[in-house]
Amino acid sequence: MRKPFTRKDLENRAFNIIAKGRWGNADLYQFQQGQKIWVVKDFLPCPPFIRKTWGRFMAKREFMALQKLKGIAGIAAEAFLLDAYAVCYRFQPGTTLKETASDLINDDYFFQFEHLVKMMHQRNLVHLDIRNRRNILVTDKGQPALLDFQSSLNLENTPRALHKILKDIDISGVYKNWDQKKPAFLDSSRRAHLESLNKKRFLWFLKGYPLGTKTDRRS
Ligand SMILES: Nc1ncnc2c1ncn2[C@@H]1O[C@H](COP(=O)(O)OP(=O)(O)OP(=O)(O)O)[C@@H](O)[C@H]1O
Ligand SMILES: [Mg+2]
Repeated sequence: MRKPFTRKDLENRAFNIIAKGRWGNADLYQFQQGQKIWVVKDFLPCPPFIRKTWGRFMAKREFMALQKLKGIAGIAAEAFLLDAYAVCYRFQPGTTLKETASDLINDDYFFQFEHLVKMMHQRNLVHLDIRNRRNILVTDKGQPALLDFQSSLNLENTPRALHKILKDIDISGVYKNWDQKKPAFLDSSRRAHLESLNKKRFLWFLKGYPLGTKTDRRS
């Protein structure tokens, strides 16, 4: 399939920086092509050793996850690999959950978000970094979107005995954010589920960046 644009197109045209990476983090920028706005997540500016190992692996992992989740509302659409070092997908206008005040979030937002995460699980993928509120968007239409599949795992390549634990890590992230932003809408059965998950020691070491797959871009 023909790619919507190439690295050469990026060289000649202006783009907006979304985030500048350090070490193992990609640079993210917006690129406009006709009517469409794209995000380019680019590991090319990383030091050569990082770029050729970690960067390649991360770009491919994110691309494969987005392919697997294609068509689900709230997942960035039209993902493609620009080259071995950069993954691109459509920009979704909105604000991150971290930046969004609770009163600007619809009452049904977290119900939709839980549904989105369950749809992802049905396709045999776990995200594993849902506790990070920079990975969740409140779109301009007030709907949830999930970003950043660098830490995701394809359950088809993971021992079955771990599936429930891994899905629970995601669900605990959904309910933790729900409890922080809209506590009045977190009903007693979901709250009890969150509390029981929080007591499980095996989840503790995974809080924050899971599986040691990320370095923090901000100090
Ligand atoms: N498809 C998208 N639409 C709109 N904004 C996006 C999109 N993808 C990423 N962003 C913005 O870029 C930020 C960083 O994206 P992402 O989490 O994928 O990169 P990262 O390298 O993991 O950064 P961080 O360390 O901040 O999590 C997001 O918090 C969001 O503000
Ligand atoms: Mg992120």
